[in-house]
Amino acid sequence: MIDIETLTEQQASEELKQLAQIMAKADLAYYQDDNPEISDAEYDQFKKRNEEIETKFPHLIRSDSPSQKVGVRIQSGFGKIVHKVPMLSLGNIFEVEEISTFMDSVNRFLGTNDSIDIYSEPKIDGLGFSARYEKGIFTQGATRGDGSIGEDITQNLKTIKVLPQKIENAPEVLEVRGEVYMSKQDFFELNEKNLAENKKIFANPRNAAAGSLRQLDSNVTKERKLSLFVYSWGEVSDVSWHSQSEFIEKIKAWGFPTNPNNKLCHTIAEIEAAYQNILTIRGDLPYDIDGIVYKVDSLELQKRLGFLTRTPRWATAHKFPAEKAITKINQIRVQVGRTGALTPVADLEPVNVGGVIVSHATLHNEDEIKRKDVRVGDYVVIQRAGDVIPQVVEVLTEKRKNESQAFIFPMLCPICGSHTIREIDEAVRRCTGGLNCPAQAVERLIHFVSREALDIEGLGNKIIEDFYHEGIIQNPVDIFTLEERNQGYKDDLFAKTDGLSLETREGWGKKSVENLFKAINSRRIISLPRFIYALGIRQVGSATSLLIAKNYGLFETFMNEMREEKTEKLLSIDGIGQAMAKDITEFFQEEHNLQTIRKLMSQIKIEEFIDKTDYSSPIANQTVVFTGTLEKMTRAEAKAKAQSMGAKVAGSVSNNTDYVIVGADAGSKAKKAQELGVKILTEDEFLELIK
Ligand code: IVH
Repeated sequence: MIDIETLTEQQASEELKQLAQIMAKADLAYYQDDNPEISDAEYDQFKKRNEEIETKFPHLIRSDSPSQKVGVRIQSGFGKIVHKVPMLSLGNIFEVEEISTFMDSVNRFLGTNDSIDIYSEPKIDGLGFSARYEKGIFTQGATRGDGSIGEDITQNLKTIKVLPQKIENAPEVLEVRGEVYMSKQDFFELNEKNLAENKKIFANPRNAAAGSLRQLDSNVTKERKLSLFVYSWGEVSDVSWHSQSEFIEKIKAWGFPTNPNNKLCHTIAEIEAAYQNILTIRGDLPYDIDGIVYKVDSLELQKRLGFLTRTPRWATAHKFPAEKAITKINQIRVQVGRTGALTPVADLEPVNVGGVIVSHATLHNEDEIKRKDVRVGDYVVIQRAGDVIPQVVEVLTEKRKNESQAFIFPMLCPICGSHTIREIDEAVRRCTGGLNCPAQAVERLIHFVSREALDIEGLGNKIIEDFYHEGIIQNPVDIFTLEERNQGYKDDLFAKTDGLSLETREGWGKKSVENLFKAINSRRIISLPRFIYALGIRQVGSATSLLIAKNYGLFETFMNEMREEKTEKLLSIDGIGQAMAKDITEFFQEEHNLQTIRKLMSQIKIEEFIDKTDYSSPIANQTVVFTGTLEKMTRAEAKAKAQSMGAKVAGSVSNNTDYVIVGADAGSKAKKAQELGVKILTEDEFLELIK
């Protein structure tokens, strides 16, 4: 891993992209398949690294960054439920010292030195849920899903005995939220039973709970022993509590299970004591927890503190330290991604690390293997932080056999045999096979249909892979000619399937084929940002695609300029630098890319992009500067407010400044504004303006 301090912008951008990919994959395995591929510790490490890079290069934050996401998209099969109040995620801290950092940031935002009460709760390692009551009757249950849309699990939640079906004296509408979990004991029993019956073995209680709750047949859920705790709420018609602690009391009185180890803390010392206490009793708790959650107790303060993109400022999760275990590396495999990046993965002798069976670890890249001198056959220390999973922290060289040999990173692509290259300044080695490399072709197809790209439901990774290897879909265009070809099914693309039509595939029927074509056809008209993103140009994430769309409007305009390597406009876009521009123009120099685009354009229509951002706010697109002491809000609050209304908040006054908002004792900035003739507003005038 390159030291953050010496990381170049290009390296940072590449690494962020890799991290986004790795974590998206891990998320899918974890949330959707209930079958984690990497350890939690490793996951947390990736997340931390991602955060560190983003802190240093905030302009490189990708819209598909793990920091911007809550969960993953939901699986088909369940009805969808839109969360009126989104189910958000939590920021993390890992060290006891960070408790005061968290408290400092709360105080700073609020502009106080007062001691602020914190409600601490064990962080249950289960599956987030939301349960809705109307007139006291349980009407609807949902999973968290991606935070905005969850799965309808009403029937399944009904099978959990501790969840009341009816409550007295409740508000008209009450949505309670919490965590469904399976006790350690029930988890072991379930696995024992499944082992005897040759059924699926779950890696940990969390996955067992998720697998049990997300059953299309609620009879299966009923057989599984699930329980839950409530710790939060969504839509409520009449919020009659003023603090988290009061909410917990209320909810307990209504008959919901709440965690007995929740605690109200008045000082940092008390928070630390609560943490130490939970850490001590953790092993004896009948269920898994992966940390503690600290929440600012007062609702009024919570409201003022508000949210970052996906996490509240008023709460954070303190993750538990790593758990370690020793295991053997059976194999080092090198995987190839969409852009040809070679990523080494260690296959481990499965080992139980604090209740989680770990069998893989990503080894990041060539240098990382060299630095740690990781070899096949080595015994390594695996660490699982946060609680859920692990990473290779140390190689036990003393246990190494004499005949052991250093791992030689392949110079040829392990998938297609093409040469690989590694650019100066880059940590990754890449396959030069392009679309001739099946791994890249498949990954690109997967990217092309992915959620933020064409978003074609029904073309999951496995299907893409099968279709690719069977010759049914080799490039993006084939997706749009599939229906036609399927009807004739004489096309040579179907040669390998003996000319069989899709309907006769195992597990497929008329209906599923119809649905697939429906999904494909619904994307024949596609928005410009989605299309640009779908192309899979290196470094061009969905946020960049949106910027490009906003600036060019028409795909043809963009493409023509890129083909002619006219980058002036491109480089004038805030957020696009030389390196990215190079990747973009290079993409459009490649004949096979142009060919694919041309063919695609004969099948689909790319919409002109008309910017729909709401510029009606009076400060949208305006640059504002705050100075002096504000009275009705802190500087941080004011800044967040202005930004949320589309304004740019700058630190100093210049000719580009539109408004300077002055509080008490404003100094040189107010003076400068006067000199430059920039509009000056008092705090009240500002509040009036944005009202
Ligand atoms: S509060 C806006 N409290 O942890 C904050 N979450 O990493 C909402 N979790 O999605 C979450 N125990 O599924 C909260 N006592 C607790 C929790 C808890 C477990 C889960 C929850 C959440 C995730 C965030």
